[in-house]
Amino acid sequence: LKARRIARPLVLVGLMGVGKSTIGRRLAATLERDFVDADEEIERAANRSVAEIFEAHGEAYFRDGERRVIARLMEEGHGVIATGGGAFVDDETRALVLEQGLAIWLDCDLDTLVERTSRKDTRPLLKSGDPRTILRDLKERRSAAYAQAQVHVVTDEGPHEATVQRIVKELA
Ligand code: S3P
Repeated sequence: LKARRIARPLVLVGLMGVGKSTIGRRLAATLERDFVDADEEIERAANRSVAEIFEAHGEAYFRDGERRVIARLMEEGHGVIATGGGAFVDDETRALVLEQGLAIWLDCDLDTLVERTSRKDTRPLLKSGDPRTILRDLKERRSAAYAQAQVHVVTDEGPHEATVQRIVKELA
């Protein structure tokens, strides 16, 4: 069954800082598939950064654009797609990804998320308060949605390459 499903787009989902873009890029290289990053596609389409879109139009507007861009990426049938952390929480996007793709939930502990997100100051959702509190809250609220992904991989320990190898094994 999995061997058949692997022909579908592999869609990486999970919280900010878990490594979706880095791992997605390496997974695509390993499987010799193409890679697209949904946030980058949204930025290209809007000609603005994610932070600028949030600032100028708010989160609801960003979610609308995100839903449309991911629908297009699914239709184009890319090999590996990294999504922004909120994408798979949207009911419509989640249904589409589960139906047409293979969702891979990258999960890790809170300390790791806090550490990894602190390296880059580009995430609008972490600006409104203490990042640890916000991430803890998002983790709690979103885990039920992420858990619907067909594959679940923990990325806490070791280099990203080890995670890529674990995903490849899961898909075999
Ligand atoms: C978001 C995650 C971000 C980006 C936006 C909102 C979220 O993507 O889409 O800031 O709601 O979790 P990353 O998960 O790539 O940081």
